[in-house]
Amino acid sequence: MKGCFIVFEGLDGSGKTTQAQRLFRYFEKRGREVIAVEEPGGTPFGERIRAILLDERSSLEPLTELLLYQASRHELTRRVIRPALERGAMVICQRYGYSSLAYQGYGRGLPLEWVAALTERATEGLTPSVAFFLDVPVEEGLKRVKRERQPDRMESQGLEFLRRVEQGYQELAAHHPEMVRLDGTKGPEHLFEDILRALEQTKGGQSGGVYLH
Ligand code: TMP
Repeated sequence: MKGCFIVFEGLDGSGKTTQAQRLFRYFEKRGREVIAVEEPGGTPFGERIRAILLDERSSLEPLTELLLYQASRHELTRRVIRPALERGAMVICQRYGYSSLAYQGYGRGLPLEWVAALTERATEGLTPSVAFFLDVPVEEGLKRVKRERQPDRMESQGLEFLRRVEQGYQELAAHHPEMVRLDGTKGPEHLFEDILRALEQTKGGQSGGVYLH
C-alpha cells in the first residue's frame, strides 16, 4: 500500500480534532492528496451508527456497543481508508481500534482479546503507520468538552469509567510500538510541533514512511 495512515487517539477534549485539522491543512498545502475521517462514522451507514451510539436515549449492552463500533469501522476501512491508501493518499483518522480497546475493553470491562480479535477482523489487519495518543487528565478533557457543548452518551459515563479508559490508553501506548504518547496539555502550537517531529522520525522507517516535504 502506497499511502500513509495516521491516527489520533485520546479522551474527548484531548485536542484530536484541532491537531487532525492542522495536519490535514499541512499536507494539503504541500500538494498531497489527504483525507480526514473520524470514527464512528465516515460512511453513510457509519454516520447512522454514530447517531445511535452517541444518543443519550440509547441503552446498549456493552457487546452491542462494541459490535456497532466495529461495524462502522469495517465499513470505513473497506470503503474509504483502504481505497485511499491504495491511491497513495494520506489518511488522517480520529480514533481507531485503540478506542474500542480503551472504552469497551478497559472502560466497559469486555475481554481485551475479543475486542482485539474483532478489530482485526473489522480492519482486515490494517494498522496505522503512527497512532498519536494525546494524553490529558480526565478532568481537563471533560472541562474542555463542556466549554464547547453538551457531553454525549459516552462522555456522560462518569469519572470512574473515564479513568479506566485513560488507564487503558496508558497501557496501550506502552504495548503498541506504532503508538506515540504526546502531552495533550501543551498548547496547540507546541503539540503540533511535537507531531511533526514525531512524523519526521518515522520517515523512511518501518512505519510506512511519512514524507513531510
Ligand atoms: P467523538 O467523535 O466525539 O470522539 O465521539 C466518539 C465517542 O465514542 C467517544 O466518546 C469515544 C467513543 N468510542 C468508543 O467508545 N469506542 C470506539 O471504538 C470508538 C471509535 C469511539
